[in-house]
Amino acid sequence: MIQTICICGAGAMGSGIAQCAAQHGFHIIVYDVQPAMLEKAKTGMSANLQSLVQKNKLTENEKNEILSRIQLVSDINDCLADMVIEAIVEKPEVKTGLFNQLAEVNHSDVIFATNTSSLSVTDIAQQVKHPERVAGMHFFNPATIMKLVEVVTTPFSNAQTIDAIVQTARQMGKTPVLCKDAPGFIVNHVARPYYLEALQLVERGVTDISTIDTLLEASGFKMGPFRLMDLIGNDINFAVSGQVYEALDRPERLKPSSLQKEKVEKGELGRKTGKGYYQY
Ligand code: NAI
Repeated sequence: MIQTICICGAGAMGSGIAQCAAQHGFHIIVYDVQPAMLEKAKTGMSANLQSLVQKNKLTENEKNEILSRIQLVSDINDCLADMVIEAIVEKPEVKTGLFNQLAEVNHSDVIFATNTSSLSVTDIAQQVKHPERVAGMHFFNPATIMKLVEVVTTPFSNAQTIDAIVQTARQMGKTPVLCKDAPGFIVNHVARPYYLEALQLVERGVTDISTIDTLLEASGFKMGPFRLMDLIGNDINFAVSGQVYEALDRPERLKPSSLQKEKVEKGELGRKTGKGYYQY
C-alpha cells in the first residue's frame, strides 16, 4: 500500500502534485536540486492552502496537518518512499539517472512514475534498472485542480505497478485513464492542432493572439490556446510539439511553429517566467 510518495521536482507540476497528494492523506517528500525552488514551492503551497481556509473549505488545523505531511529535501538519501513521481526537467537522461539513483536508496518494491509530457515512457523504462516498475503518471496543470491523470503503460510495466498508480491517483481524488505509451499519449495528441492551428493563424498575419483566445473562450473553451500555452510553459509545449511531430514521421499539419521556438529562445516561457505570449 502506498503511504509515502517522493515527488521529485518542486516546480509548477511537482508542487501541485505534492499539495494535492498531501491534502488526500499521503506523506510527501518533495525533492529538488535547487533549494530556492523548494522554498518557492513551500510558500506557494502554504498560500494555496491558506486561501482554502479563507473560503471555508479547510480549517486552520487541517491546513497545518496537511503542511506537516510535506517534507522538503535536497539530499537524495532522504528520498525513502513507496512511490516516486518525478516532475523534473524534461530530459530523458536526467530522468533515468534520477530513477536509477533512487533505486539504490529505496527498497526493492518502489514504484517509479514519470510525469513526462513528451518523452517515451518505454524509452525511459528501458534505461532504468527495474523497467517493470516504471510507468507514466501524467497530471495536468494545475495539478491541484485538474482531475485527469493519464496512466501510461509500456510493454515492460507489470500489473502491480499499474494498479498502484491507478489506486494512488484515485486516492488523490483524480480520474485515472489507462493509455498505451504513444506520442503525446491521448490529450496532448488530440490537443496538438488546437495550439498549432492558432499559431499558424498568427504567423500568417490572419489575426492576433488575444482575438483568437477571446473567440475560443467565448465559444466554450475554458482557455484560449495562447493563455493555455503560457500556463503549461512554452518550453514544455514546444517539446511536446517536437516529439509528436518527429514520432509521427513529420506530418506537415503538426509541424512545430517558429513562434514557439522564438519564445523558448527568448526565455519567454509563460507564467513561470512572467512573460510568454502575454505579460504577467
Ligand atoms: P518546472 O521547470 O516548473 O520544474 C522543474 C523542477 O525540477 C525545477 O524546480 C528544477 O529545479 C527541478 N529539477 C531539475 N532537475 C532535477 C533533478 N535532477 N533532480 C531534482 N529536481 C530537479 O517544470 P514543470 O512544468 O513542473 O514540468 C516538470 C515535468 O512535468 C516535465 O517532465 C513536464 O513535461 C511535465 N509536465 C508539465 C506540465 C505543464 O503544464 N507544465 C503538464 C504535465 C506534465
